[in-house]
Amino acid sequence: MKRSTFSSKFGMLAAAVGSAVGLGNIWKFPYLAGENGGGAFIIVYLLCVLFLGVPALLSELSLGYIGRSNGIGAMRNITGNNRWSIIGILGFLGSFIILGFYFVVAGWSLEFVYQSVMGSFIGQSGEVITQNFDTFRFDTWRPYLWTVVFIVLTAVVLYAGVEKGIEKWSKVLMPMLFVIVAYLCVYAIFLPNSGEGYKFYFDFDFSKINADVVIAALGQAFFSLSLGMGAMMIYGSYIEKGTNLAKTSIQIASLDTLVAVLAGLVVFPAVFSFGIDPAAGPQLVFITLPTVFAQMTGGYIFSIFFFLLLAVAALTSTISILEVQIATVAEEFKMNRKLSLVLVSVIMLVVCCMCSYSLIPVEGGNELVFFGVSLFDICDIITSYIILPLGGLLIMLFLGWFYKKEDLHYVLVVETKCSEGLFKVYYFFLRFIAPLLLLAVFLQQLGLF
Ligand code: PHE
Repeated sequence: MKRSTFSSKFGMLAAAVGSAVGLGNIWKFPYLAGENGGGAFIIVYLLCVLFLGVPALLSELSLGYIGRSNGIGAMRNITGNNRWSIIGILGFLGSFIILGFYFVVAGWSLEFVYQSVMGSFIGQSGEVITQNFDTFRFDTWRPYLWTVVFIVLTAVVLYAGVEKGIEKWSKVLMPMLFVIVAYLCVYAIFLPNSGEGYKFYFDFDFSKINADVVIAALGQAFFSLSLGMGAMMIYGSYIEKGTNLAKTSIQIASLDTLVAVLAGLVVFPAVFSFGIDPAAGPQLVFITLPTVFAQMTGGYIFSIFFFLLLAVAALTSTISILEVQIATVAEEFKMNRKLSLVLVSVIMLVVCCMCSYSLIPVEGGNELVFFGVSLFDICDIITSYIILPLGGLLIMLFLGWFYKKEDLHYVLVVETKCSEGLFKVYYFFLRFIAPLLLLAVFLQQLGLF
């Protein structure tokens, strides 16, 4: 059977940008910037995207494009043996771990759309809103229900396949997402005191930069660009021959970064406008912002659109991660695509419910909290700090040191029309700069550097 491909450039770009733009941009990026000194973090982040993110993205798309299969199969097709398939295996396992917490947070976004529509935040104090969030998270069925709804939504889109599912929906959802962010950004300008937010956000105080900030920015760049997990590889394998991969990578990285920066332009003016701490951490979006919406004129509309934005962004990302699982199972085990979809969705259902449960304080200790860390957090930490950077490192080591330079040159310059100069710069980063940076981060994390 002929393998599916995206039918148009716009559709391909929408799908890839859809994968990149997700909870990482709207939930994680603002709180990381808030915790790590605002403007200083942004500068470091931009550098990470440019020097590491773009080369890694181009590498991953290229491997998929050349290998024309899921991560495991693509590496086998390229090398003729199974040695490098570890890249695909790592990504495949990683996809279950990442989705374990991702679907849960995505489910929360639906609950918050619902609560926004019901007007539950209006006029409430911060304490009530915090309590509501906990009551919801610790509830015996609501968080699970929304998680299940999100898994089903994702599965329904994927059921229709690459072109009629992923591509078609991305073409609708991504423009919608851009309209919502733009609307919220403009809206935020007119909030009283919004200037304070911009000041914080654009305060380039370089004394705030330290190793932790760099590591946070680097992990975030990988997470946000959907790297190291085979998602971009599988999308690369659906890209039509001849498409300019270098240009596509730059476009994806630019749009992804744009949305992250814009999300900050929505969040910080709002937060400062009401004198709230910008360093609230992961709860910034789910507690801090509703507290802001509660007091804000027009907060009702603002909150509906904001959480809708979060849900849409999350959906186009979960689509790409679940696709890794579906394609891998279908291709590697020669299983019917629909059967494979049902199988992985059921597995995710179990994993996600466990992650969601691990957040609940249980008398006598929660069985899914290990050494004081919940399964939910373990999944987040393992993916952001280990699997994604490790996957990225392996991909770049393979392409830079084990794949013939002439072959890569042929694919990128001759076949997909990347300029000679850009290829040279890319190849230099691919071989030296990017792997060294990643290695330094690993050593730093192990306390060796
Ligand atoms: N890039 C997505 C986000 O920012 C998350 C993601 C990671 C998607 C890895 C696919 C693979 O939310």
